[in-house]
Amino acid sequence: MGFDHLLADRTRAMDVNVIREILKVVSQPGMVSLAGGIPAPESFPLEILRELTSIVIDKYASKAFQYDSTEGFGPLREILVDYLQSKGIKSNKEEILVASGSQGVLDAIGKVLISKGDKVAVEAPTYLGALQAFTPYEPEYIRLDTDDDGLVPRSLEKVLDGGGIKFIYLVPTFQNPTGRTIPLERRRKIAAIIKKYGSLLIEDDPYGSLRYRGTEIPPIRSLAPDNVVYISTFSKVFAPGLRIGFCVAPELIRKWLVIVKQGTDLHSSTFNQALAAEYISGGFLARHLPNIINLYRPKQEAMLFALDKYFPDNFKWSRPEGGMFIWAEGPAGLDMEKLYHKSVQKNVAFVPGKYFYSSRGEGIETMRLNFTMTDEETIARAVKIISEVIKREM
Ligand SMILES: Cc1ncc(COP(=O)(O)O)c(C=O)c1O
Repeated sequence: MGFDHLLADRTRAMDVNVIREILKVVSQPGMVSLAGGIPAPESFPLEILRELTSIVIDKYASKAFQYDSTEGFGPLREILVDYLQSKGIKSNKEEILVASGSQGVLDAIGKVLISKGDKVAVEAPTYLGALQAFTPYEPEYIRLDTDDDGLVPRSLEKVLDGGGIKFIYLVPTFQNPTGRTIPLERRRKIAAIIKKYGSLLIEDDPYGSLRYRGTEIPPIRSLAPDNVVYISTFSKVFAPGLRIGFCVAPELIRKWLVIVKQGTDLHSSTFNQALAAEYISGGFLARHLPNIINLYRPKQEAMLFALDKYFPDNFKWSRPEGGMFIWAEGPAGLDMEKLYHKSVQKNVAFVPGKYFYSSRGEGIETMRLNFTMTDEETIARAVKIISEVIKREM
């Protein structure tokens, strides 16, 4: 019996996450995947987790396993104030909401803010998971231009000038999918523009701590606190399976995010939040983060080196100072999806870039490459194989 007719209109608006579909194909044995976007399992601090588990049980006992407040576990929210301060963001405990991953915040944002037909401005390209979180609420996506330095401020101003934008969604640092980072001068311009128009910006920052070179750049939230919901996560610096993300948001928005979260899951895992609290307050994060960076830096360098060595001259690619992705663009007219299928036949996978655009027909010649899950030698071999597929096609 088919139950299709029972699906809500909202459900019909949803799409399967294409990347998850691609990942199913590429999990076949022998496949080298530059397609994923997940942290390396070696980056998880298993020994620290063992120690933290004892600390949490000794310190919080049954409290760590009880229902807790929707806003988040008190000790975690307290230590997050210091953590955010270290990134240049002033906050107090009351402004912080813990969620089930940053994805949990994105879903709640969609629920709280988007009515059917509302205009939501997103970078072209943008994080697919955000589109997936927002699309069920049926927004109209408004495209923001980007270049090698991320969002182009002039494009933002033009879009806001047109009026009616509910909010802007940005990943300003080591963006997924491009790896691009918006430089400080541009952040200042963006902050001034959103202040001028009284706009709301959702700043999603899961990768900011994964910096392999260069100097840290302050979040846009630090430049326009009243206009920005800042979202971050422990997924890339601790363990994604714990599902701990958080946001600091203007009062009214935060209040509604809490009400929505009550209806979604009451609160995020108390035990996992307690682990996260002790991970920061015990200095474990500060000690472990350099290990993660030292694990990823050579992988990223190996990929950039291989791209320089093997990729054709008419390609260009991003050179991020951190994060998990490199974005490559071929000449106009090149069908990257076709190359993806050919490359998979040679046991190497990547993600065709067109999936990261809110409008169809864009980014046909682009690709996203991930380097966190593969060793340096294999990265070099995989990039060589992709380049051979490209050269044959061209
Ligand atoms: C830009 C961005 N935002 C949010 C997320 C979701 O992360 P999590 O829900 O694990 O915190 C990801 C995950 O890859 C991401 O790349």
